[in-house]
Amino acid sequence: MELQALLAAERERIDSALDRLLPPAEAWPPRLHAAMRYAVFGGGKRVRPVLVRAACRAVGGDPEHVVEAACAIELVHTYSLIHDDLPALDNDTLRRGRPTVHVAYDEALAILAGDALLTEAFAVLAAFPVGEEHAGRRAEACRLVAEAIGSRGMVGGQVEDLEATGGPPDAGRLDRIHRAKTGALIGAAVELGALLTGASGPRRRAFATFGQRLGLLFQVADDILDVTGSAVSLGKSPGKDAAAGKLTYPAVFGLDAANRELEALAEALTREAEGIEGRGGTLGALVGYVARRDR
Ligand code: IPE
Ligand code: IPE
Ligand code: MG
Ligand code: MG
Ligand code: MG
Repeated sequence: MELQALLAAERERIDSALDRLLPPAEAWPPRLHAAMRYAVFGGGKRVRPVLVRAACRAVGGDPEHVVEAACAIELVHTYSLIHDDLPALDNDTLRRGRPTVHVAYDEALAILAGDALLTEAFAVLAAFPVGEEHAGRRAEACRLVAEAIGSRGMVGGQVEDLEATGGPPDAGRLDRIHRAKTGALIGAAVELGALLTGASGPRRRAFATFGQRLGLLFQVADDILDVTGSAVSLGKSPGKDAAAGKLTYPAVFGLDAANRELEALAEALTREAEGIEGRGGTLGALVGYVARRDR
């Protein structure tokens, strides 16, 4: 299947599973559930859940086996976006083409909707895939995701991102921030799909490493798009990184060198994808998509 068609079908499947997993908007307390649904639905690319399912497929599994786990990763990602946009962090008012949650609702509810999505994600990871025979893998999945997004992973990266804002260009620090704030969750998504499908040892590690580097590529592209993209295509306000003094690839290396680094990383990852899934697989196609996207 061609990538665009596959992405469309995947997004539809993931959205219907998310709809089933989340409490209805009218459930008590309705304003909270409405805010959670507002954040989850309406415009996300769903790259991370697509990666969970692609990794499952690459190991020879049926992606339906990991659809709920894939949704859990999207719930974590959505929580991270709500909190990333808060006035105390990046102070953004536009996300996925709409007002951010703290603008559409209020700041307290945005914080709490993020908390609830993060919590819900672990309830899902602890419950799926169902069956006593998968209990060990479910526990490993919870640990894998928790480690990736905690103080040594995504949250740690977000803290250093804030601390580095307004500071001098520092390539080592930039690399550390990007691997943590974005690489860790995308790495966990790829590793999760492989782990839940039975990959272990070096095979599981190969997926993890590939995913973490794909996450770095993803954030390099995000940094470049903040310079070159438009609000209409991005669904968020461009130009904010430079205005805030963020440590980004274009800020440290310049736009041309950032683009060259993006291409070099994409080429290396395409070869890596071939190593783990063979030629012409979905993970390889997703490398090209992540590098060349316009949103
Ligand atoms: C944005 O992620 C946050 C970053 C880690 C750069 P996405 O670009 O995947 O955002 P959505 O989910 O498509 O809105
Ligand atoms: C976000 O990085 C990383 C996380 C949300 C963990 P950015 O701050 O660059 O993401 P955008 O550009 O706001 O989507
Ligand atoms: Mg940020
Ligand atoms: Mg941000
Ligand atoms: Mg950004």
